[in-house]
Amino acid sequence: MLTKLITSEIALAAENLGNKVIVVYIYCETLSAPSPMMQYINQSLINSMHDAEKLVGITMAKNFDYFYKLVDKFDGPILLIFDEIDKLKHPDIINQIARIKECGFTKNNVCVIGITNDTNFYDNLNGRTKSVLGQNELYIPPYDAEQLNDILTSRANAAFVEGSLEEMVIPLCAAFGAQENGDARTAIDILRTSGDIADQRNSKMIEEIDVRAAKEGMELNRQLEVVGGLPTQTKSVLVACALKYSKNKESVETSEIYAEYLRICEIISVEPVKPRRVNDYLGELSVLGVLSVNKISRGRRRGVFNVIRPLADTGALMEVILQDYRFENLKRRLERV
Ligand SMILES: Nc1ncnc2c1ncn2[C@@H]1O[C@H](COP(=O)(O)OP(=O)(O)OP(=O)(O)O)[C@@H](O)[C@H]1O
Ligand SMILES: [Mg+2]
Repeated sequence: MLTKLITSEIALAAENLGNKVIVVYIYCETLSAPSPMMQYINQSLINSMHDAEKLVGITMAKNFDYFYKLVDKFDGPILLIFDEIDKLKHPDIINQIARIKECGFTKNNVCVIGITNDTNFYDNLNGRTKSVLGQNELYIPPYDAEQLNDILTSRANAAFVEGSLEEMVIPLCAAFGAQENGDARTAIDILRTSGDIADQRNSKMIEEIDVRAAKEGMELNRQLEVVGGLPTQTKSVLVACALKYSKNKESVETSEIYAEYLRICEIISVEPVKPRRVNDYLGELSVLGVLSVNKISRGRRRGVFNVIRPLADTGALMEVILQDYRFENLKRRLERV
């Protein structure tokens, strides 16, 4: 966002002086292969130059040739922004682009800006690319709560009617955002969702409870996303926990889960695994934060029990799992009850 903002201001300032700057934004995640990327850059240059010849090459060499021609034709600075630059299949292409003048292909230079979250990206480049890319490095640290507070305040001023936010709302959203590695997106999302929740309960004010509900809801969504992508066996184990849990309410002992798991496997026609593996799956689910596994001692005679508790709403968990066609038989069975 910062790069886009600054480069657009540069372009505007240039325009006010009667000069032209071309800014090309390249999102490397979707343009990771060299040929489509060069075609995209060429096309963007053509679009910004009203009298450019339209040329599209198939081979890499042709595309580079066109690129040199276009750069030569344009009489002004060209800024190329490579966002998520670590996603490039051949990052050394940057070396070729950055050295076009040095190598005598053009009389003009281009300016290359690379953006990445990967701190190792730079270290893994070959020496020549490293030297052209590393000329000016800028590290942008995560936002702290105070900075998020500022960002949210300006957003809130634009988004909400004056006086509709309880005092705690913005600081709380900022604190949640700061917990998530200073992510402005998360903080803004929580604020927006809080507004929706306040709306839903017909409140004219956004209050602390709305922010907490927004935060909880977003966490649940994230968990459900994880659950939706689990393999069938893991889902079966989770279903067994969820069903047992809704019967017992408080918590479930691991020993109770296996029998329930076998029953589920039979219903959905899946070959069951051994109890040991089921324990492994429980461990994985606990690492994913979907359920908690706690050891509880019941005194010397009765020994130690593993107690399971789902961390998300079991109804929501079941709904996601039952969307999986492999659990169709179970879904029908539960609907009948
Ligand atoms: N200083 C700021 N002021 C206002 N909004 C901001 C600010 N910084 C970030 N944002 C918000 O956060 C969003 C994400 O910012 P940006 O696109 O810069 O993220 P990024 O650093 O590229 O993250 P990623 O690594 O996920 O791509 C922006 O679209 C904007 O809504
Ligand atoms: Mg980004």
